Amino acid sequence: MITTPFRIVVVSNRGPYSFTKRDGEFHATRGSGGLVTAIGAIARQYEILWISCALSKGDREWLSTHNGVQEVDDMHIRLIQPDAAQFQAYYNVISNPLLWFVQHQLYDTPRLPIFDQGTWRAWSEGYAGVNRQLAEAAAESIAGTNDRVLILPQDYHLYLFPKVLRELVGDKAIIQPFLHIPFPGPDAWRVLPLRMRRELLEAMLHSDRIGFQTERDTRRFLQTCVDTLPDARVIKPWRRLAYRGREIDAAPYPISLDVEYLRQRSDSEEVNVHRARFANQIGDRKLILRVDRVEPSKNILRGLIAFKNFLNAYPEFRGKVEMLALLVPSRTEVAEYARYLRDIMALVGEINATLSDGEWEPVHVLLGNNYDRAIAAFCMYDVLVVNPLADGMNLVAKEGVILNRKDGVLILSEEAGVAEEFGDAPLLVSPYDVFGTREAIRTALEMPPEERAVRAVRLREQVEANDIHAWFRRQLADAGEI
Ligand code: G6P
Repeated sequence: MITTPFRIVVVSNRGPYSFTKRDGEFHATRGSGGLVTAIGAIARQYEILWISCALSKGDREWLSTHNGVQEVDDMHIRLIQPDAAQFQAYYNVISNPLLWFVQHQLYDTPRLPIFDQGTWRAWSEGYAGVNRQLAEAAAESIAGTNDRVLILPQDYHLYLFPKVLRELVGDKAIIQPFLHIPFPGPDAWRVLPLRMRRELLEAMLHSDRIGFQTERDTRRFLQTCVDTLPDARVIKPWRRLAYRGREIDAAPYPISLDVEYLRQRSDSEEVNVHRARFANQIGDRKLILRVDRVEPSKNILRGLIAFKNFLNAYPEFRGKVEMLALLVPSRTEVAEYARYLRDIMALVGEINATLSDGEWEPVHVLLGNNYDRAIAAFCMYDVLVVNPLADGMNLVAKEGVILNRKDGVLILSEEAGVAEEFGDAPLLVSPYDVFGTREAIRTALEMPPEERAVRAVRLREQVEANDIHAWFRRQLADAGEI
């Protein structure tokens, strides 16, 4: 365990594990998504407490016998259990359909969103209520300590958290949130009514410093504050904001991976079993891989259309390539997500029905959360497609380039945060440009080995030079300055 000059508390909606009870025993599996991947790596190595919500039935069962701070696999964790109706409003009305959709700009605005009385109730009772409960748990966890305290609330679920915590603990804690998802510009935020966007930003500005994935997000946050809050102004240096007697820093910390851990895990027995299976299935065909949560912002449909168009435009590739989509179902209680999964499966069915030749099937979908299986696939791809409409960072792109053993080519959306770091080493595409993506698939498959190698090395070195430890150390160093 690495010690730091601080008592550190991370607070997030989802925690590192999802618990299930089988035959009277609890089993812990790793949660999905970028946040858990990244913070999990930190929590394994640093002395921190990680507070999060009990999300599943299994989590609630586990909590009933594991109250307070618990040690699980070297991590100190604590689950809290919000009231069911409050949680439903916070997660399934405000956080995911509303804030996530605003920040990824997913709305079909002639139809949605609609703010009715229920939305406002969900905001003031559900969202605010769960934020309060998490802030109270964080405050309780630092009561009585004389250490310097650093509280790190994560992501868009916790925008109101800094204000409540500040009221509870005053200046005893440095409050430094980090946002994993994109921060759009002021116009996108105007989908939210003025009262809501003011409450949200004002609460955030009780922090000492706010971390974003990219320079672009940081800039857009500052612009949004100035646009929304009459008293806010940007002061020198350009990333500092003055608001009602406080000064708040905004800074980009591009998130990353535990490179060493991932590489070790990719050599494990479990991963080898999956690699052998894939090798058998794919044979000497070229593997085009995508790995995503089933999530509208991931743009899975256009990726499939681009692949279908590619096979139609260049029939000589039929039977010689295969697209493998490893998809993790997500937020299935939100109607858009359930519909999105159905649309994906329908399109895959149509592509396979029209293009398969009886032996070869162009698209293979595997549903479910299996990290070892994903690691195995990362080792083996020839082409990795990451084409989100908007994405805070996209750790799949980083996992891919670190684990791949074939100098595979990365096709990357210019709207993924990671594009800021990767420059022109991937083949960059506009996520809306299905034709461009189709052509990028062809360019990737025909790329000479020397060029593949040069690009792969550049990508790998970029991630190695800024791994998750560098990400965390930079935040600690900056917190030390406050
Ligand atoms: C993204 C977000 C995370 C979230 C994850 C999974 O990575 O940045 O905050 O935890 O998606 O989403 P879920 O709603 O399943 O936790």
